[in-house]
Amino acid sequence: MSETPAGRHQAGSSGRPLPMTSAEEGLPAEVTVYEVGARDGLQNEQVVVPVEVKAEMVTRLHAAGLPAVEATSFVHPKWVPQLADAAELMGLLVERLGDAARRMPVLVPNERGLDRALDLGLEHVAVFGSATETFAQRNLNRSYDEQFAMFEPTVRRAREAGLTVRGYLSMCFGDPWEGAVPLDQVVRAGVRLLEMGAGQLSLGDTIGVGTAGHVKALVAAFAEAGVGVDRLAMHFHDTYGQALANTHAALQAGITTFDASAGGLGGCPYARSATGNLATEDLLWMLQGLGVRTGVDLDAVVATSAWMAGQLGRPSPSAVVRALAEPGGLAESGA
Ligand code: HMG
Ligand code: MG
Repeated sequence: MSETPAGRHQAGSSGRPLPMTSAEEGLPAEVTVYEVGARDGLQNEQVVVPVEVKAEMVTRLHAAGLPAVEATSFVHPKWVPQLADAAELMGLLVERLGDAARRMPVLVPNERGLDRALDLGLEHVAVFGSATETFAQRNLNRSYDEQFAMFEPTVRRAREAGLTVRGYLSMCFGDPWEGAVPLDQVVRAGVRLLEMGAGQLSLGDTIGVGTAGHVKALVAAFAEAGVGVDRLAMHFHDTYGQALANTHAALQAGITTFDASAGGLGGCPYARSATGNLATEDLLWMLQGLGVRTGVDLDAVVATSAWMAGQLGRPSPSAVVRALAEPGGLAESGA
């Protein structure tokens, strides 16, 4: 790993600034960036984005080298009108990308959603549960226990059909209605999803209230329950600007899969205080600086987010996108 001399600002082959790089001992050498922009990012947009624009966004993110690009959700179209075009989008993506599109993960809350994914030959699905009672009701129209009853046949049938299943768990840190969520409550809910057959558990800080020490405590609580870091992913929202600090803490705890959203798009339509996810570009910049490999082309993701910002009619909230892509930003001024 080459190190940037302290205080010097290097320009990359594209002429753009590069992060100072100094490998930090003890961190994973490589991590998986799990891109959720087309799903978590877009699901909260009030104006429906044309399906061709979504297809272009997903295609560009895939081309940037992101190993997992979550494309959409097979949820009830009345609950999330923005993603009512899920089948049409996947059809367009299969036309463009063939089997690579069938390998893109999608959300399915129930058997009806799974059937829609199976009809299209998709290979990776994710169920999404809540660690709290109130959010289960608001997001899934189910009680806490009923959500697991809904997932059980969904996960079982998906596994029988040879699909992999990711389990998302929301409200792993705090909940806007119930306040702080105890660690053991989160672990109990997560273990239920894993025991049901989810291969990976993504721990969601849905409203961004988590802080670095709490992240380490949660990873330790899962370890005590016999769930190692190889089964966990982290899903941070950046509401209070803590997502990168939390990511760094999770890296130190050995986590190697991080969810992020290109350009920092995002939010959850059923949790008002949920804002954008950790921006993929901000994550890539930090990982590059820490000497952690991802295989993702940062410039290509920045270009995609700058283009999406034009489509959505507002600037990206990502600091790295603003610095590298906006007129007058670092890239232009050479600062
Ligand atoms: P419900 O109204 O209770 O549904 O919604 P139901 O089971 O009573 O069925 C009613 C009708 O809906 C039936 O049709 C079903 O077939 C149909 P009818 O017989 O009346 O003609 N239906 C469906 N149609 C299409 N696709 C489906 C589907 N399911 C039922 N999948 C339901 C229950 C779970 C469907 C609903 O609450 C829902 O779609 N919720 C999704 C909410 C959502 O997408 N939230 C955002 C994602 S979660 C998130 O963002 C958090 C995360 O990022 C992590 C983090 O940050 O914490 C993952
Ligand atoms: Mg989310």
